[in-house]
Amino acid sequence: MTSTIIDSDPADFIPLVAFFKTMPTFATATPDLMPWTNSLNTGDPRMDETHQEFVAMINTILATPEDQQLPVYKAFLDHTVAHFAQEERWMLATGFSADNCHAEHHATILETMRVVEAHYLDTDTQIITRLAEALAEWFPGHSASMDAGLAAHLKSVGFDSVTETLADPSAIKNVTMSGCGSVSCSS
Ligand SMILES: [Fe+2]
Ligand SMILES: [Fe+2]
Repeated sequence: MTSTIIDSDPADFIPLVAFFKTMPTFATATPDLMPWTNSLNTGDPRMDETHQEFVAMINTILATPEDQQLPVYKAFLDHTVAHFAQEERWMLATGFSADNCHAEHHATILETMRVVEAHYLDTDTQIITRLAEALAEWFPGHSASMDAGLAAHLKSVGFDSVTETLADPSAIKNVTMSGCGSVSCSS
């Protein structure tokens, strides 16, 4: 599994599912867990708290026997839906257009996650493990680019992510961003 598959353009993420279905699985008694490191901090405490939960849930999946992963995975999917919706809510509140590229990345990943659930139910019981491993590779790059860029943007416009309010709403008047703030959409 290579990170290039999911670090590229969102449109390239969909073939990941086909890749999951064909790639060999190497039998390991204990999959490598994803450590939380300071490099994952974005500078926004509420975002980081959500990200710590995201990482913990990936590790829970990896530590769960494959035939028992479905309820854990469903909870992870629900959490990821809320995680991405939270960031998109903050983007909309601070001047991003609804079709910004960060939100497009989220949508593509959620689409893949939903397809993976279907494949798991269709007898591919190893696909959740493979997706969790892929997300563990993908997440540091997304966090360091798009999420950290969003965190910096929130700070620059005086947005409080706990109360979800702007210190000065006029600060974002007439601002409509389709990109990812201070970072490239190709990240
Ligand atoms: Fe995030
Ligand atoms: Fe994000």
